[in-house]
Amino acid sequence: MKYDFDEIIDRKGTNAMNTDGFREYLFQPADDIAFPYADDEFIRMWVADMEFAAPPEIIQAVKDRLDKRIFGYTKVFDPNYYLSVTNWTQRHYQWTFEKEHLVTSPGIIPALYELVEYICKPDEKVLIFTPSYAHFKHAVDYNHLELVCSDLINQQGYYTMNFDDLDAKTKNEKISLCIFCNPHNPSGRVWTPEELKRFGRICLKNNVWIISDEIHCDLLRNGNVHTPLAKLFPHSDRIITCMGASKTFNMAGLMFSNIIIPCNEIRDIWKARHYSLENPLSIAATQAAYQYGDEWLEQLKCYLDGNFDFTRQYLETCLPKAVFRIPEATYLAWVNIRAYLPREENLSLYFASNAGVLLEGGNMFVANSDGYIRLNLACPRSVLEEGLKRICKALG
Ligand SMILES: Cc1ncc(COP(=O)(O)O)c(C=O)c1O
Repeated sequence: MKYDFDEIIDRKGTNAMNTDGFREYLFQPADDIAFPYADDEFIRMWVADMEFAAPPEIIQAVKDRLDKRIFGYTKVFDPNYYLSVTNWTQRHYQWTFEKEHLVTSPGIIPALYELVEYICKPDEKVLIFTPSYAHFKHAVDYNHLELVCSDLINQQGYYTMNFDDLDAKTKNEKISLCIFCNPHNPSGRVWTPEELKRFGRICLKNNVWIISDEIHCDLLRNGNVHTPLAKLFPHSDRIITCMGASKTFNMAGLMFSNIIIPCNEIRDIWKARHYSLENPLSIAATQAAYQYGDEWLEQLKCYLDGNFDFTRQYLETCLPKAVFRIPEATYLAWVNIRAYLPREENLSLYFASNAGVLLEGGNMFVANSDGYIRLNLACPRSVLEEGLKRICKALG
């Protein structure tokens, strides 16, 4: 391997959410809780960023930009940015989009909060599939709209959409938008083209807009293929696609993402109301990621595949009653441990207190997620092994 994913990098002193923000995010009220572990003794398997260094090609691009020495007001003007993104989507997904449709945002989460407001009227509802990434719900709550959940069907850890439920809800309730996760966090499903077509047809037939959050689309287990939802519906302008290099290349803190809005009317609202200036270092990093990141990503995917195999074997041996399948995408393991902790509700607190492991679980994923923990496996294997050892010991 050209890149070293075994290196343990000290994140102290970087204001990382992962190391310094866990009390605030996972535990309320944060300051009152004392754990039998010092903060730096925890194995951190919670928030979805990685313990790996970003690719040196990206770091070099940021250094090159620093060398220009002036950091004035900035926005994407250079057409090479668009070309770097569409070359990437063409290379990886055989899909491109019009230049005019691309806008950028300081993250997909802020874009979701805005788009919900721009698309929905005050009496309309928004549908999400559960379990769900919690910010989908937060974006709806923030806009004071009603949330409608459609539970995914779970067969031994393999999740599918309940199309009858989706059809009934989008037909009968005043739902104008679905926020969709493709591939799905937390289950890790890579939806097949057939599933995507069926899903898209139901929504469009019932006049439901779709925001397809594809932030995890580059992080697939080898052998899987991602299909952008919009690729299957080239004539619809009601599908907004969110993509980014931030999750793929571990630079979420640079806060930059691509939002592809084919509908002129919504894009005009976006342009009128969105504060559109950007961070010059983020633009340089993202463009470099799309231009030079392929080899690093290939190696990352192999390392993650290894971490998932390791985890499967470990859990089969040490927690045989846990239900776990290697996900098709993401670096997140979604593990049902209900057999071991049938009554425990606050799983984050349980594992922080009893195992010294920081993780997310249960109702942090909105609904249909009782008894589940989500483990972030994007860490050196030695760290992963220690985390799994502690989890198994706490449950054993
Ligand atoms: C489905 C999904 N969307 C969005 C985000 C975060 O997006 P951003 O960092 O671009 O705001 C995450 C991060 O975990 C995610 O899992």
